[in-house]
Amino acid sequence: MADSGGMKNAIGALVFYARFALPFSRLGFRRRVGDARLDADFTGQRWVVTGATGGIGRAIALGAAARGAQVLALARDGRKLEALAGGALDRGRITPVLAELSLMQDVQRAGAAIAAAGPVDVLVHNVGLMCHEFIRTPEGVERGFATNLLGHWVLDAALRRGGALGPRSAIISMSSGGMYGAALDLDALEAADAERHNGFVAYAQHKRAQVALTHYWNSLGENAPRAWVMHPGWVDTDGVRSALPGFRRFFRPVLRTAEEGADTALWLAATRPRLASEEGIWLDRRLDAEHAFAFTRDGAAPEALVARLQARAARALGA
Ligand SMILES: NC(=O)c1ccc[n+]([C@@H]2O[C@H](COP(=O)([O-])OP(=O)(O)OC[C@H]3O[C@@H](n4cnc5c(N)ncnc54)[C@H](OP(=O)(O)O)[C@@H]3O)[C@@H](O)[C@H]2O)c1
Repeated sequence: MADSGGMKNAIGALVFYARFALPFSRLGFRRRVGDARLDADFTGQRWVVTGATGGIGRAIALGAAARGAQVLALARDGRKLEALAGGALDRGRITPVLAELSLMQDVQRAGAAIAAAGPVDVLVHNVGLMCHEFIRTPEGVERGFATNLLGHWVLDAALRRGGALGPRSAIISMSSGGMYGAALDLDALEAADAERHNGFVAYAQHKRAQVALTHYWNSLGENAPRAWVMHPGWVDTDGVRSALPGFRRFFRPVLRTAEEGADTALWLAATRPRLASEEGIWLDRRLDAEHAFAFTRDGAAPEALVARLQARAARALGA
C-alpha cells in the first residue's frame, strides 16, 4: 500500500491533470485562440529574448523578427545562434548574443552591453528548464535556480541600471502551469545539496517566483516598465523531450507547437493589456487565475523574494 505522502502526491497529480490537461493541451489553444491571426507590427522595436535558440524562445524571436522587430537573441550555443539569425528572412533581424544564462557574470555582462547600445522595448525572460540532477554552477548556484530565476533578476537589473528599460518597455516572463502546485517558499528555491534537491519542486518554485517577481516589478510605479507573466501551455520542445520523457510519450498527440506556445508572448507585446486587477497569469491571450488551490496563497511576499534574489546575486557575483 502507498504511504500517506505517496498517496497525497498521487491525488494531487490526479487533481492537477483533471483540471489542466484540456486547457494546457493543443485543444485548449484551438478552443481559445483558434486561427486568430496576430496582425502586429514591431518595426523599430528592440527586443531581448533569452533562451532563443530552441523551443518557445526561438518561436518568439522568429515571430517578433517576422513582424519587424530587431531581436537580440540570448543563448549559449554559437552555432545554433548563427542558424537562428540566418533563419530570420523577414522584415526584422536577429542578432546573436552569446551568453551562458546560468552564470551571473555572463548575464550581467550581456545586460550591460545591451543597455549601452540603446533602449529595450520588449524583454522576454523565456529561458528555463527542469533540472533533475543537482549541479552547482562555477559561481556556486544550483543550475536550475540560476537559469530559471536568478539570471532573470540579474539581467533585468543590469538593463534597468543601464537605462535600457523605461515606462514604454514591456517585460514578459515565461512561467509554467507547474507553479499552480506551489506556494512560494524562499528556502525551496535552491536546495543546499543533492539529497534535498527535487527537480519538480524546485521548478514549481521558480515558476511561482516569476509570478511574484512580476507583482514586484509592477509595483515600481508609472515610470517603470510594465510586466506580464504567462504560461505557454504544454509545448513539444527539446526541454520537454529531455526533462519529461514519460509525460511527452503520453501527451504527445495533444502537445502544442512552439509557435502556439509563443503566441501569447507576441500578443502581450502587441496589445499590452491593462486590467483593473493585476493578479493573474496569461494563457492563450486571456488572464487566468493565479492560484488554483487555496494553500498556494500563503507564500512569501514579493518583497521578501526580491531581498533574497538581491543577496543571492551579490554572493554569486562576488560583490
Ligand atoms: N515546453 C513546455 O511545455 C513548457 C511549459 C511550461 C513552461 N515552459 C517554459 O517555457 C520556457 C521555454 O521552454 P522550452 O520548452 O521552449 O525550452 P527548451 O526547448 O529547453 O529551450 C530552451 C532554450 O534555452 C536555451 N538555454 C537553456 N539553458 C541555457 C543556459 N544556461 N544558457 C543559455 N541558454 C540556455 C536552450 O539552448 P540549448 O539548446 O543550448 O540548451 C534553448 O535555446 C521555459 O521557461 C519553460 O520553463 C515550457
